Amino acid sequence: MNPVELIIKKRDGGRLSGAELEELVQGYLAGRVAEYQMSAWLMAALLRGLDESETVALTRAMLASGRQLKLERVRVRKIDKHSTGGVGDKVSLCLAPLVAACGVAVPMIAGRGLGHTGGTLDKLEAIPGYRVRLDAAAFERVLKSAGASIIGQSNAIAPADRRLYALRDVTGTVESVPLIVASILSKKLATGSDGLVLDVKAGRGAFMPNLARARELARALVRTARNAGLRTTALITDMSAPLGRTVGNALETREAIEVLHGSGPADTRELTLVLGAEMLVLGGRTRSLRTARALLERALADGSGLERFARMVRAHGGDARVADDPARLPRARVRVPVPAARTGTLTAADAWELGWVSVGLGAGRTRAEDAVDPAAGIELCHAVGERVERGEPLAFLCASKRSLVERNLARATAAFRIGARAPRARLVLERLER
Ligand code: URA
Repeated sequence: MNPVELIIKKRDGGRLSGAELEELVQGYLAGRVAEYQMSAWLMAALLRGLDESETVALTRAMLASGRQLKLERVRVRKIDKHSTGGVGDKVSLCLAPLVAACGVAVPMIAGRGLGHTGGTLDKLEAIPGYRVRLDAAAFERVLKSAGASIIGQSNAIAPADRRLYALRDVTGTVESVPLIVASILSKKLATGSDGLVLDVKAGRGAFMPNLARARELARALVRTARNAGLRTTALITDMSAPLGRTVGNALETREAIEVLHGSGPADTRELTLVLGAEMLVLGGRTRSLRTARALLERALADGSGLERFARMVRAHGGDARVADDPARLPRARVRVPVPAARTGTLTAADAWELGWVSVGLGAGRTRAEDAVDPAAGIELCHAVGERVERGEPLAFLCASKRSLVERNLARATAAFRIGARAPRARLVLERLER
């Protein structure tokens, strides 16, 4: 196979066969397809699209690049959750242990930050000692003991996605429905889960900027997952403003811990409960979403979700004391306020802009080889819809150096809008039945 021909075929709107896609993926992993050739092919795929059969074939090729786990020794039902990516979305960190505390296991393969969005792995690594790379046997052991384990891809699990994900992150090739579908499902199918709950984000801070595009992605994900034999429910949720009050790795981890303590911002807690209820129903724990929610609320109130979090962190080699003492998480040396330009109602906090501000502060990457600063990010002082007074802080920018803050201050200030009345916000926009 000549990779140039595959690039040209896609560039000109052609359809690649299953064998060609498999060879492309295999060739890339084996070094026969260069990084620049894969980048060019990804851009052609983004611009020209992939049809349903190409999407399925790409998903299969990426899945086949690694192992498919069975996790047979985990006797309870296993349900995974995945978000298509957002700003301030720390839900996996509190959701996985909370669902585990209610009797459904959560084997989760998560990703790193992508473009302007944050990644669960980067957030977990803000916990001193937490290891995201476990082999299959250790993953199964943690799942058995803690009920939840969140790991990254390794050479064992969908290694093709790990490589492609990092490449897409830095080549402007993230926002493609078939590439997102293949990326998410290749790793989700690898864990041998009994079901999957998808949080498909819509809005400025999402890869899908509006409801119509998010619906297209949600439908493609549910259809492809179902064809692969994975029971799936998708919720489309709002991502016009960051979720919760923090953006950035340690800051978000702290907020997820607050949720497990029974506090935390209302939207983060609500999304955790809504997604968790879907997971418990899909996991056969109960048939009713309302009962499922009550179980989750009880696990928040009695501390069993928090206890599972500590167990999971300990089993991953992390400092479990952060569960009761989040002050142990890294803190930024520089913390600078973003003042409100006038008095009024906060009508928008642009998640796209704030996502890039957070990357600029050091919380994300602009090149695949960049390290992230766990302490960097943004603390938001107000939710959209709240009243603000001129001069008071709308947010604090956190970084290791003042120069990073100075470079991002104007962009952060412009991300906020203050007006008379905020639009009515809904968190869950739509639900797609499995
Ligand atoms: N999440 C993923 O795992 N992959 C994508 O491509 C986008 C979001």
